[in-house]
Amino acid sequence: MNLGLFEENFLKYDKVFKDFGVKYKVFFARKANKCKSFVKAAKSGGFGVDTASLNEIKDCIQMGVKPDDITVTAAVKNRELLQYVVAHQIPIVLDNFDECELLHQVLTEENKTLRVGFRVSGFWHKREKLYSRFGFDVEEIAGFITQNLKGSGKYNRFLYHGLHFHLNGYSTEERIDGLSQCLDLVDTLAIDGFKTSFVDIGGGILMNYLTSAVEWDTFHQRLKQSVYEDAEEITFQKNLLGITNIDGNLIGEPHVYPYYNELFQEHFVEKILRGEKDGVPLCKHLQQRDIELRIEPGRSMLDQTGITVAKVAFRKKDSQGRLLVGLEMNRTQMFSSSADYLLDPIFLPQYSGDHMPCEVYFVGAYCLEQELLLKRKIQLHQFPEIGDLVCFVNTAGYMMHFYESEAHLFALAQNLIVEKNSVWTAIPDERFSSII
Ligand SMILES: Cc1ncc(COP(=O)(O)O)c(C=O)c1O
Repeated sequence: MNLGLFEENFLKYDKVFKDFGVKYKVFFARKANKCKSFVKAAKSGGFGVDTASLNEIKDCIQMGVKPDDITVTAAVKNRELLQYVVAHQIPIVLDNFDECELLHQVLTEENKTLRVGFRVSGFWHKREKLYSRFGFDVEEIAGFITQNLKGSGKYNRFLYHGLHFHLNGYSTEERIDGLSQCLDLVDTLAIDGFKTSFVDIGGGILMNYLTSAVEWDTFHQRLKQSVYEDAEEITFQKNLLGITNIDGNLIGEPHVYPYYNELFQEHFVEKILRGEKDGVPLCKHLQQRDIELRIEPGRSMLDQTGITVAKVAFRKKDSQGRLLVGLEMNRTQMFSSSADYLLDPIFLPQYSGDHMPCEVYFVGAYCLEQELLLKRKIQLHQFPEIGDLVCFVNTAGYMMHFYESEAHLFALAQNLIVEKNSVWTAIPDERFSSII
């Protein structure tokens, strides 16, 4: 992991907000990578951390992150987690009625209050309601807050602080509508004396993995063409990565992350700030109401900050003649919700060899027929030897840890932080993050 680039990614967001003169706060969504050193870097870089579990929250507190620089959006918040946030006075984002009930019980037991935000969903977009399993409905939340958070209300230990949403997918238009509808809520709540300090628009900010649109288009074309009987396979057993093949008719698109984007990171945020509500840009609406805009980028904050490296353990042919290269890792260490990781790895042989290019599939250590590290066939410039290295690039966001498991009792991968002083050094994450 390379923390310098992490901070550079933050500075891109920092700049766009400053350019637009909008109050803002960036919370790094730690769920995208578990290395503690990113928490340390967030603290020294002056930005916050979005936490999804009690252990993530505890790490922040133990590493000296201020409670105001933590947001808690965990999907499940049990009593233990709530007791911890109450004890440390960490502002929290509430998702549902049961959470409100439990948090209020804890606050009553402790005779305390807590700043809370509410997650909102069910926004209207193009005359349809956006589906979400998370949050309070946009039509109900203002009434709920006014009724329950007043002096004599059921949840009068909650100190109303702001609104939050996180949308599935990567649409700026949906986020513009979500933010506009939150601003309507801000105005409604203000009439009843509830001042909104922030609106948090969550993560899902696109990043770009490829240099050209041609690569992306060619991949789609080649994948679809590969289905023909006489066409060469480009994925293992002509796997269509989620496209449905009905008697040769291909339906849908591959279920993969949109690896090529022209609107990404700070440009994505800029588009939202320029989005209009009632003919006025959203940045102006935020300024007029003195609202802090919050974002919780995970993946896009980790752009170019990490690689995954594994050693070649064996070479063999499968029963259909494909060349398989076994690496000392498993597929949970190279896996996200995308049907395949679409960046070509870098092959690092120990010696310059026979220069006979070959096409291979990388396989891992789990005892499954489907244990492919990449479903795509990869071209190597020479035949791999045992001990050669394979480097999967730009994997810090979700690829390394999100699904990493210890099946077969394999040890988890070692996480190293690299730093250049006079020379490059690599220090284990645990040790790096504990150096003050
Ligand atoms: C509440 C919340 N915030 C932030 C994020 C981070 O999203 P991303 O990594 O796409 O930026 C997620 C991801 O699921 C999330 O659920």
